[in-house]
Amino acid sequence: MEDLFWVFERMPRQGIGSRATTLQALSRLGIVPGTREAPLHALDLGAGSGEASLTLASRMGAEVVAVELHERFLAALRERAAQAGVDHLIEAWPGDMATPPERPGGYDLIIAEGSAYLLGFEEALRRWKPLLRPGGALVISELVRVADPLSPPMAAFWGAHYPDLATADVRRAQCEAAGYERVDDFQIPESDWEAFYEAMESVLVEARRRRGESAVLQALQREADLYRAHAGEVGYQVYCLRRPVSVSSQGA
Ligand SMILES: C[S@@+](CC[C@H](N)C(=O)[O-])C[C@H]1O[C@@H](n2cnc3c(N)ncnc32)[C@H](O)[C@@H]1O
Repeated sequence: MEDLFWVFERMPRQGIGSRATTLQALSRLGIVPGTREAPLHALDLGAGSGEASLTLASRMGAEVVAVELHERFLAALRERAAQAGVDHLIEAWPGDMATPPERPGGYDLIIAEGSAYLLGFEEALRRWKPLLRPGGALVISELVRVADPLSPPMAAFWGAHYPDLATADVRRAQCEAAGYERVDDFQIPESDWEAFYEAMESVLVEARRRRGESAVLQALQREADLYRAHAGEVGYQVYCLRRPVSVSSQGA
């Protein structure tokens, strides 16, 4: 476990994505810099060391509550926010994203990059909707199965690590069944995957040199190798959703 933190603390982000991808998702929801009179109130769930929070605060002037279970990621987030001059906009909230702090009237935006699966995709949809104001937006990025079937090594790896892996269509249907308006969705570009595994592999080299080989480091290397050998069999889909405004269409 310690090796896992050692590696992820040294990476710019802990999941697949990029600032450009975050801004792309926001723009599909009509959330673009410089167009709001009041500040955007946002919740970043499973924030890690805070890439989405930093993007929201520095590009949108948003006020963000960043929820993260692990204090060491929050410490990194606080430091990065101070360096970027946006620490007054970001509250680092240590705790469980299953029960984030509520905001009177609801949040304008909830963003969960690579984290919903940790609660279970449908459970996350169910829990987070009441936290949004009517018309508020939810951005979730989620690993999806693209190849049918997966090659045997990928089936074995993801079967062990994410047995609930589903296709983008299944997730779309789940968003709608949970009572969200599905505004748009798109696949994260390959360049975000490349950047993630490039960063991971360079930290892994350093980790082995300083700490020696371990089962955790081997598992991370195996994941990077699998990505390189089987890119395209799985993807990351970004769902851009809204809590409906009208009571009659709010659904589940
Ligand atoms: C795959 S990482 C994504 C981090 C970040 N959103 C990003 O894209 O770089 C998932 C994060 O969720 C955090 N996490 C896991 N379970 C959590 C929980 N129940 N409540 C809050 N955070 C949690 C992990 O510590 C980790 O930082």
